[in-house]
Amino acid sequence: MTTYPHTAALMRRGTDFLGCETAIMCGAMSWVSERNLVAAISNAGGFGVIACGAMTPELLDREIAATKALTSKPFGVNLITMHPGLFDLIAVCRKHGVTHVVLAGGIPPKGSVEAIKEGGAKVICFAPTLALAKKLLRSGADAMVIEGMEAGGHIGPVSTSVLAQEILPELAAEHLIFVAGGIGRGEAIASYLEMGAAGVQLGTRFACATESIAHPDFKKAFFRASAREAVASVQVDPRLPVIPVRALKNKGTEEFTAKQREVAALLDAGEVDMGEAQLQIEHFWAGALRRAVIEGDVENGSVMAGQSVGMVTKEEPAADIIAELMSQCEAALAR
Ligand SMILES: Cc1cc2nc3c(=O)[nH]c(=O)nc-3n(C[C@H](O)[C@H](O)[C@H](O)COP(=O)(O)O)c2cc1C
Repeated sequence: MTTYPHTAALMRRGTDFLGCETAIMCGAMSWVSERNLVAAISNAGGFGVIACGAMTPELLDREIAATKALTSKPFGVNLITMHPGLFDLIAVCRKHGVTHVVLAGGIPPKGSVEAIKEGGAKVICFAPTLALAKKLLRSGADAMVIEGMEAGGHIGPVSTSVLAQEILPELAAEHLIFVAGGIGRGEAIASYLEMGAAGVQLGTRFACATESIAHPDFKKAFFRASAREAVASVQVDPRLPVIPVRALKNKGTEEFTAKQREVAALLDAGEVDMGEAQLQIEHFWAGALRRAVIEGDVENGSVMAGQSVGMVTKEEPAADIIAELMSQCEAALAR
């Protein structure tokens, strides 16, 4: 068996926390991170995370059971904080003895972190700023993911390299911080580990793994694309705050601009309030992502992808991707 002594030493806090061999998490990707990819990542020594997205508690129940049938290794579940059934979803995770719950999509509502911890699971949160990271750690989060705007999917405004410099020196000695966004090779992992990260999270690099159920046309779009084609959506109306999404430029990105205008007009007419307007925008994304991932409509759907998409050139088993990242990281650290 290949060993990676330098990498393993720097990842030890992360692997102890996650309960796996390598502190490489595959970030939850709606429609993509289901039983097959999650089990493949965890079986390969990484840490897979189920994307709950808009699933009902019944669907999540089935997905966790099916994942457990494919792997005996630990994996996590990503829950979106604004899901109306958040506490029911937490109960489903608890019933299955899920060891790690990732809370995404904003500040966790009151009582949610406590509810997860009472069930014995660890809580991982996203921190867009140093101040918020400190607040979330004080409120009981066990680990943080800091994610820069190079990432695929919903993004914040700051790059990974800047977030890492702002947050790691302050917090990484005492806390478990995982770095995400724009990581395509092991050399980058080495640099964040040397800055004190406990591990990393990648999405784009794993989306087209052999075990990923993404449509062949979705995967082909990734293989063809370069970094500059993975663009962030633009906000067209200053009153309608829209969390930007990074995806491959296509007709769907243009449709999103039209959708924003339509929702802004409804706001103007007083037909919807701000909450409903934002919900409509989120539903648009969920539908558009499904269209691309499941149906393979890469023209009109949303092909969410990070800037590391240019480094995704072929379909490979998850285990090969992890082995390659680990050996690149080890070589960099050994130098
Ligand atoms: C197709 C796609 C879908 C995603 N969906 C979600 C999601 O549902 N929930 C979430 O928290 N993050 C989501 N993400 C973000 C990933 O979990 C991960 O943090 C991100 O991809 C890491 O950056 P990278 O793409 O540069 O590797 C998504 C990313 C992609 C590429």
